[in-house]
Amino acid sequence: MATILIHPDTASATRATAERLLATIRANPAAVLGMATGGTMEPVYTALIARAAETGQSLAGLHTFNLDEYIGLAGDHPQSYRTTMDRLLFDHVDIPHDQTHLPRGDATDPATEAFDYEAQIEAAGGIDLQLLGIGANGHVGFNEPSSSLASRTRIKRLARSTIEANARFFGAGEQVPTHAITMGIGTIMKARRLLMLATGNGKAEAVAAALEGPVTASCPASILQFHPEATVILDQEAAAELKWRDFYEDIHPGGQEVYFADRS
Ligand code: PGA
Repeated sequence: MATILIHPDTASATRATAERLLATIRANPAAVLGMATGGTMEPVYTALIARAAETGQSLAGLHTFNLDEYIGLAGDHPQSYRTTMDRLLFDHVDIPHDQTHLPRGDATDPATEAFDYEAQIEAAGGIDLQLLGIGANGHVGFNEPSSSLASRTRIKRLARSTIEANARFFGAGEQVPTHAITMGIGTIMKARRLLMLATGNGKAEAVAAALEGPVTASCPASILQFHPEATVILDQEAAAELKWRDFYEDIHPGGQEVYFADRS
């Protein structure tokens, strides 16, 4: 089972996520990090930029691979995940741009692009820590319900609810993409560690299904139950539907990690 850390508020959950990223980078300045987009991650990257500056931590040795990118959007499109990541994180830290990777949404052959992206991850030595959000429908990356739990990076059709949820990032009258290239669930499971952040009551049902429901393609995030090194950081609202919430809070009061070794 994943380590479930329930924080007193959203700011604390966000800060803890950024601190974990920073701790990973400190321990291994040449780490390969899997990055995620979505509204949940925006304050995480803001906190990471601030903390890296405060602590003088360089990010220059990292390699990053984002989970996904919209098909049909060139890297310089304002709503592409490439532009989003540059704006939110990469433009504000010292990581060389060519060490940051996203699938190319405007590739002439998206299927080959997806295959090559998977190979690039392998060639980099695999992902040390993969950051994840969760969709209200239980998706991870753009692996919508019914995705194969063994899937690799490929083209996916987006669920209507995902298209609607993402429409807020696009201008009125702008076409929201219907397809994406996304790491597969099997790709995500190969990462050595997973770190999921979910905040807000819009995620409560999906979080409960993922952590306490059956492992099923109907809730792709439920595959986390099979990962040996998964941590899930939640705020109060996102934790609201968890049946065993008091148990998780007993183990990790306030969302703090408690190591038995500390008690000696
Ligand atoms: P959100 O997206 O952070 O914008 O809610 C998360 C996701 O869909 O994975």
